[in-house]
Amino acid sequence: MAPIIVAFMSYRFYFILLFLPVAYGDISYSFPEEMKRGSVIGNLAKDLGLETGALSNRRARIDTDETEKRYCDINVNNGELVVADRIDREGLCGEKASCILKHELVLENPLELHRINLHIQDINDNPPEFKEETISIEIHESADRGARFVIEEAHDVDVGQNSVQQYSLQKNDHFILATSGNTVELVLDKELDREKQQDINLVLTALDGGSPQRSGTVVIHVTVLDANDNVPVFSQAVYKASLPENSPVDTVVVTVSATDADEGINGDVTYEFGHVSEDVKKIFSIDPKVGQIRVIGTVDYETTKSFEIRVKAKDGLGLSSYAKAIISISDVNDNAPVVNLKSLTNPIAENTPPGTEVGIINVQDRDSDNNRQVRCSIQQNVPFKLVPSIKNYYSLVTTGQLDRELVSDYNITISATDEGSPPLSSSKTVQLSVADINDNPPVFEEQSYSAYVSENNKPGSTLCSVTARDPDWRQNGTVIYSLLPGEVNGAPVSSYLSVNGDTGVIHAVRSFDYEQFRSFKVQVMARDNGSPPLSSNVTVSVFISDVNDNSPQILYPAPEGNSFMTELVPKAAHGGSLVSKVIAVDADSGQNAWLSYYIVKSTDPGLFTIGVHSGEIRTQRDISESDSMKQNLIVSVKDNGQPSLSATCSMYLLISDNLAEVPELKDISYDDKNSKLTSYLIIALVSVSTFFLTFIIIILGVRFCRRRKPRLLFDGAVAIPSAYLPPNYADVDGTGTLRSTYNYDAYLTTGSRTSDFKFVSSYNDNTLPADQTLRKKFLL
Ligand SMILES: *[C@@H]1O[C@H](CO)[C@@H](O)[C@H](O)[C@H]1NC(C)=O
Ligand SMILES: *[C@@H]1O[C@H](CO)[C@@H](O)[C@H](O)[C@H]1NC(C)=O
Ligand SMILES: *[C@@H]1O[C@H](CO)[C@@H](O)[C@H](O)[C@H]1NC(C)=O
Repeated sequence: MAPIIVAFMSYRFYFILLFLPVAYGDISYSFPEEMKRGSVIGNLAKDLGLETGALSNRRARIDTDETEKRYCDINVNNGELVVADRIDREGLCGEKASCILKHELVLENPLELHRINLHIQDINDNPPEFKEETISIEIHESADRGARFVIEEAHDVDVGQNSVQQYSLQKNDHFILATSGNTVELVLDKELDREKQQDINLVLTALDGGSPQRSGTVVIHVTVLDANDNVPVFSQAVYKASLPENSPVDTVVVTVSATDADEGINGDVTYEFGHVSEDVKKIFSIDPKVGQIRVIGTVDYETTKSFEIRVKAKDGLGLSSYAKAIISISDVNDNAPVVNLKSLTNPIAENTPPGTEVGIINVQDRDSDNNRQVRCSIQQNVPFKLVPSIKNYYSLVTTGQLDRELVSDYNITISATDEGSPPLSSSKTVQLSVADINDNPPVFEEQSYSAYVSENNKPGSTLCSVTARDPDWRQNGTVIYSLLPGEVNGAPVSSYLSVNGDTGVIHAVRSFDYEQFRSFKVQVMARDNGSPPLSSNVTVSVFISDVNDNSPQILYPAPEGNSFMTELVPKAAHGGSLVSKVIAVDADSGQNAWLSYYIVKSTDPGLFTIGVHSGEIRTQRDISESDSMKQNLIVSVKDNGQPSLSATCSMYLLISDNLAEVPELKDISYDDKNSKLTSYLIIALVSVSTFFLTFIIIILGVRFCRRRKPRLLFDGAVAIPSAYLPPNYADVDGTGTLRSTYNYDAYLTTGSRTSDFKFVSSYNDNTLPADQTLRKKFLL
């Protein structure tokens, strides 16, 4: 049998009926998949040449191997083979090119077995399919043109022409498609730039060759991966900032910012300083992340007025760019003015005329502009002023007369204040001393001095002291006292007084005699030690006070022993008649010369009285015949000194009317032992003194010849007056003593340095003085 190929078209299908020569009548049918149930595949009865009725008689049925599923059935009435179940070629045979289902037709009685081969034809019932809806690929933007990127191909379960036949790529800027065999590749036709387009979606369509054609699409999501192809870019080329000096640490000065178009680490910009000096590094820091430039040190305008800092921005992989930060520092008034003393005349003399420059001062302020404008001043109450000079120099000039004795030191405070806000100031104290000029003479504390001294003082005794003050300095204020030359009673003052040059204490050089003089004046000079020296003079009056050193001197009656004087008392004298008068004087004065008279012894005590103060001897009663003719009185004269001195005399009274009656005057001598002794004493003294005098004269003569000193007859500190004038007796009128008409008029002045004798001549007689008047006077 020849194989018969039947091809027929039914509906949209065509199928080929293939008659194959089989042993028991193998029969093949070819028909498309997915025919409806009941669709007739072929007529078995006809194709096998069987009677239609025989099928049912012979219990025809379709059978398969046990495991196989039965997809078709036979209509025993007409012998048609019909589709019994869905036949999906792809499900039954997958990608096999031919898909044959094997069934058997079983006929019984007799048993007949026909194999039926069902060739399932593919129909284009499946579109091409991609595995995923979206394909993601990542491509570096740095990828070169022509780079290929494999895309997983699409699958179509259909086979043959119905499988994927071609691809088409949606039109785009960067990619084209290249297919060869099964591989599909995207080819980079134009370089990518992530910074322009980061994601690209491409639609790829796969087409099969079936009719009608089916397609499947996939979205290719291309992620452009960054390449570090962009440098960071600063927002400004130059950042300018102004920063006040002394800004605290952490102050943000300026923030630089750079952007990098790259992403991730490639766009991760960090900041740092470019090449900057160590100083800048100590003052500023930059935040690597944020780009803030901060203060970390001390910003001092006076050190640096502006900073130019190179700032570097770097991305993660090391592309960098640079910008400049110019930070100008603004001044703050943080520097106080400084006062410098450039020169100083110290000390300055107190006679410096007003207007003299004594110092030069320089003032500086390190700040600028107003902050360095400085005003200078000194305190008010000093005689100095500041005179502005060139630039910031000032002269310190005196404005008034200086007086060291008033103010010897000045602390001059120079204050400088700048004009900043708030202003700063400082001051400097200059110590200035005023040097002394000898402009003050010594000044005595008193206008004049008086010294009181009792006569007979000891030589060397202190009389008084004078004090002068000189406010000048050191030797200009050192006072030296001296006596001014002068004369007292014709003798140089130095023979009377001496003054201690240092202390001003005045000493007596000799013993004074009140009876010689009662007062004298000397000039004492106080002189300082300056050059030239200044001096002042003061008068010192020395008053000598009396001492009771002179006994009363009886002038009348003349002392006994020389002549025997008698007073005649008339017999008829009544009581109270003045008989005689004792006359005495005292060289002292005052109380010391106030004399009183007493009768210490008398022949007839009741007969005579003596006036206590007048010395007048009067009869106390009438003279009687029984009274003795010779009356003898011893009268004592006392002065009133303390202790009092006294002298006595004898008075011989003869009660008689006629001198011829006087029998023997000698007999009435009361007692002549005393006077004899006195006479011896006088003779002895005169002899000794004469001898001594002669001796002194010889010595002086020798010296005088050698030295020829005309002025003085002696040397040394002791002066002996060349003339010795008696003082006037004090007015003792009323006391009964003699008036001043009694004078001593003769002195034996010998210039002896030891003693002189004074002989007093009587007022009416050249009588020798009584023993009490013979005085020995030592002037030493
Ligand atoms: C000047 O200052 C010094 C030191 O401070 C002080 O000893 C002196 O007493 C002051 N003189 C005057 C006149 O103020
Ligand atoms: C005393 O004064 C004179 C000028 O009169 C002066 O030259 C001298 O320095 C002064 N002496 C002292 C110790 O101040
Ligand atoms: C003091 O006296 C002396 C001597 O007489 C005289 O030279 C001097 O000028 C006097 N001094 C004064 C301040 O009067």
